[in-house]
Amino acid sequence: MRSEQPKTVYLKDYRAPDYLIDETHLTFELFEDHTLVHAQLVMRRNPAAGSGLPPLVLDGQQLELLSLAVDDVPLGEGDYQLGDSHLTLQPPRDEFVIDSSVRIHPESNTALEGLYKSSGMFCTQCEAEGFRKITFYLDRPDVMSKFTTTLSAVQKDYPVLLSNGNPIASGQEEDGRHWATWQDPFMKPAYLFALVAGDLWCIEDSFRTMSGRDVALRIYVEPENIGKLQHGMDSLKKSMKWDEEVYGREYDLDIFMIVAVNDFNMGAMENKGLNIFNSSCVLAHPETATDAAHQRVEAVVAHEYFHNWSGNRVTCRDWFQLSLKEGFTVFRDAEFSADMNSRTVKRIEDVAFLRTQQFAEDGGPMAHPVRPDAYMEISNFYTLTIYEKGAEVLRMIHTLLGAEAFRQGSDLYFDRHDGQAVTCDDFIKAMEDASGVDLAQFKRWYTQSGTPRLAVEEAYDPVAHTYSLTFRQSCPPTPGQEHKEPFVIPVAMGLLDAHGNELPLRLAGEDAADGTSRVLAVSAAEQRFTFVDVAHKPLPSLLRGFSAPVKLSFPYSRDQLMFLMQHDSDGFNRWEAGQQLSVQVLQELVDQHQRDEALSLDPRLIAALRSVLADESLDAAMVAEMLSLPAEAYLAELSEVADVDAIHAAREFARREISRELFDLLWARYQTCREASRTTPYAADAAQIARRSLQNIALSYLALAASDEVVDVCEEQFEHADNMTERLAALAVLVNSPFEAEKANALAKFADYFKDDALVMDQWFSVQAGSPLPGGLERVEALMHHPAFTLKNPNKVRALIGAFANQNHVNFHRLDGAGYRFLADQVIALNALNPQIASRLLTPLTRWRKFDSARQALMRGELERILASGELSSDVFEVVSKSLA
Ligand code: PHE
Ligand code: ZN
Repeated sequence: MRSEQPKTVYLKDYRAPDYLIDETHLTFELFEDHTLVHAQLVMRRNPAAGSGLPPLVLDGQQLELLSLAVDDVPLGEGDYQLGDSHLTLQPPRDEFVIDSSVRIHPESNTALEGLYKSSGMFCTQCEAEGFRKITFYLDRPDVMSKFTTTLSAVQKDYPVLLSNGNPIASGQEEDGRHWATWQDPFMKPAYLFALVAGDLWCIEDSFRTMSGRDVALRIYVEPENIGKLQHGMDSLKKSMKWDEEVYGREYDLDIFMIVAVNDFNMGAMENKGLNIFNSSCVLAHPETATDAAHQRVEAVVAHEYFHNWSGNRVTCRDWFQLSLKEGFTVFRDAEFSADMNSRTVKRIEDVAFLRTQQFAEDGGPMAHPVRPDAYMEISNFYTLTIYEKGAEVLRMIHTLLGAEAFRQGSDLYFDRHDGQAVTCDDFIKAMEDASGVDLAQFKRWYTQSGTPRLAVEEAYDPVAHTYSLTFRQSCPPTPGQEHKEPFVIPVAMGLLDAHGNELPLRLAGEDAADGTSRVLAVSAAEQRFTFVDVAHKPLPSLLRGFSAPVKLSFPYSRDQLMFLMQHDSDGFNRWEAGQQLSVQVLQELVDQHQRDEALSLDPRLIAALRSVLADESLDAAMVAEMLSLPAEAYLAELSEVADVDAIHAAREFARREISRELFDLLWARYQTCREASRTTPYAADAAQIARRSLQNIALSYLALAASDEVVDVCEEQFEHADNMTERLAALAVLVNSPFEAEKANALAKFADYFKDDALVMDQWFSVQAGSPLPGGLERVEALMHHPAFTLKNPNKVRALIGAFANQNHVNFHRLDGAGYRFLADQVIALNALNPQIASRLLTPLTRWRKFDSARQALMRGELERILASGELSSDVFEVVSKSLA
């Protein structure tokens, strides 16, 4: 907790560290009621930072200092200054050794940052600034050191003792304690430090690297979850292979370990050689984890593994450069997932997420550039902008340079900066040097916040046979940035003739046509591209594969969108045409609702979906994606003022109409899919995943008919499915149905069967928290008292409170403000327990500007109540105060 207003940190104030730490020797004595940490730091003056011997200022928070010595000379109280967050002393000379001993309390650490206990085991989380809660240190990523770590604990309770690098020694003591020493040969910043001590089991495997070295692979978990590790291990081996093949990156230690922990603020952490994972991101078994969860495990395992190069071997100079490692690594893991699964479906999912969530962030009070230039609390900047938009920026570089030059740029970056802490500029420079492409203007993507608008106008000249596209870009003001300069926007595009064939593309001034799909680099505020030899007026397919994170508008008619849905050669854009058609049709229903008119659905949407559903040659995963109407949150994002109730009514009306009109087709496809599920054993492969997603979305439409035959198939699927994907989908359908008895029965059965499996219970909470039926808040409040719920576990908070506030718009945005009051109460309670989770949970309230004036006032009122509620963490203070500004 802070006692005064937190200070803002600015990128422009960056200075190289005065001192360096060449070696770090740590000793941890772990006890039940405290832990002793001894640190020996071999330090020297940083030659790059100037002359003289300035005071040494070490970071340290919540540490009880027991002893301090410099060069073996003990320091007395007058020899140093100790404040809330720093320890200052005067070094005697250029090279010196600091020894400190501190006492800390992992057993009562609920913030889950630094050293803490989770389900009886000790573990650490040091990114971004958690190491300072472990010992006095220069806790900044540009101070890199060689770590040696010894840890000791009671052997019977903590048989496994792990840290980064390789194990070099271990032994037993007489009193039942044992110890182990680990040494990491690679220089690393403190945020990549980790230790684990617990009663853990592991599965083991090995991987032969491209240069022929064998690496031992281990995944550790509490004994009861040992059966849920195979998918994570398979994912790890695939990741290691992929990074060799696609990026030429080889693993560098003899051992790579993953540990699953139950209490974790984020998804996972890339500590060198010892990744620590939220158990939700590594455990998977067909009977307890859905297909989506399996895919998430594959993606997160890959993400953390890829950080070994993009993040660890080459790290960030300061936290303003966070997207250097995160944007790049998300781009890398997205491409990996695309290669392992359906590329188009992966892109659809990522774009839907980006446009719904990141665009909302970019349009709200916390909007910031991919490389921010100021923050109060760095933990608040692990955002969708840093991660997802950062990944889009990398994707654009890939698109503009082409795969080959991009790879050369990446090789150059890793070669040039191996072992260094660098900036986004260094990355761009490597890309420029390798490709010869000037990215000076492109860099605005790193410095300007907000989502650019790109309005496109066409003009056809039937005499000259020319077709031109005029692009006008703009970007709305964001906090601290009134005016924006034009971005470089790569627009992948093609032109279709009246039969749906792709036209060869030749721009005015070019000698010959060059392919049927190409990338236009739009770089001016207004820019025209003219195509020649165009015999008839074509239909443009724009922003293929979502080649830039912009809001593109082109005045397509509904018939044109239906045409694109059928004929576009780009799978992403076929889906996108369907989405745009749905958005137009749904917005029309919203208007009707607002005018109190009877709702009437444009039959073209039904016709379009009918042909999708009837086309057996289409990939089932694509059919499922096409059948999914845009989410309420996306429709809200697109509105100037989001009318929560009208959006819900419109979307539900459309779903019921689709169900009614297409019932027979849906029924037939459902039966075929379910029959295949019944007769083939479960596998998490692409074809089966596709089939189950089609099956489950079909079921959710069928259930709207509320007929007995549908309840029967729902119950059949719920009872007899051999996997969580089908079982949970059936449960969700029942939960959202009017069949009270069947619903209660299914919920009770599920909870009884899975009561001891925390991750499954999270899904049980989420399904109920997300149900839009009336009374949602009361259901959530009751579930807060369920024995499986606790505010201390972030997964539980996300599953119940997070799902309610983010995915249950009608209930959360109740007009009496009770949903907002509930969320604010939870934020206030969590502020004291776990500031990072408190601050993330706040997000829906920060979006108050999107709503009508009555809701705005209620939401602001709750933000003000939080602000006045007492001692706020810097995390919560920053978000609340910026939201109210
Ligand atoms: N660096 C982690 C990742 O993205 C995320 C993380 C950040 C985890 C901060 C914990 C704390 O891979
Ligand atoms: Zn990451």
